[in-house]
Amino acid sequence: MKHSVRLILLGAPGAGKGTQAEKISAAANIPAISTGAIIREAIATGTEMGTLAKSYIERGALVPDEVVIGIIRDRLQADDCKDGFILDGFPRTVPQAEALDQMGVEITDVLSIEVSDERIVSRMGGRRVCKACGATYHVESNPSPAGDKCGICGEDLTIRKDDDPAVVQSRLTVYHEQTEPLKDFYAKKGLLKIVEGQEKLEDTTALTFAALGLN
Ligand code: AP5
Repeated sequence: MKHSVRLILLGAPGAGKGTQAEKISAAANIPAISTGAIIREAIATGTEMGTLAKSYIERGALVPDEVVIGIIRDRLQADDCKDGFILDGFPRTVPQAEALDQMGVEITDVLSIEVSDERIVSRMGGRRVCKACGATYHVESNPSPAGDKCGICGEDLTIRKDDDPAVVQSRLTVYHEQTEPLKDFYAKKGLLKIVEGQEKLEDTTALTFAALGLN
């Protein structure tokens, strides 16, 4: 893999960004940064930002640009980002992408994982997450080895509030209106790569790694 990969993962909610981010992170030894996970943790610990973000996230709306831009500006200054990083869920609007440019962050790759809305809707009903460590499973395609407990830390698995079918529909609408235009934004910069999401996780991983030149 090229030295210092600074990767953006694009894709609809549930396309598999978080799942592939974990695999790339382990293979390339760079951190995977999920704005969604950072916001959910802030909600769980009851910080000021979490309280503000809660109503947005629970109805499937985007949290205001200035909040997530602030999160990313702080996070990218951490030591572990010096040799590269994966952005999972940021940017999600053109103003967020422009803010990243203004920060002087030079992105090396943008990879969009493409999955149809119909498959997203049926897939989200089976997602299970660990509230304690954030691990993600799927009851059919990626079950926890520990049943309804987390295979990593043993805590109970739960269903995300925003995986309710009506909220998933809102998130898909938001994605098509506000995030999909980023494909053009990055295609014009010559950075966009497309991966077709497959039925099997490992097949999507193989295509993702090939697109990024990872073994
Ligand atoms: P966030 O947490 O980023 O949610 P999302 O983008 O909607 O994406 P998901 O985490 O739902 O899905 P994913 O693509 O990571 O899929 P996963 O790998 O889990 O954001 C949540 C909210 O936070 C937003 O709605 C917004 O309110 C706010 N927010 C976050 N960032 C923001 C920003 N920049 N600006 C403003 N607001 C922001 O996979 C899904 C399921 O499918 C899993 O169960 C998995 O096991 C399974 N699966 C994955 N791949 C496959 C496969 N190939 N075959 C079968 N099953 C698969």
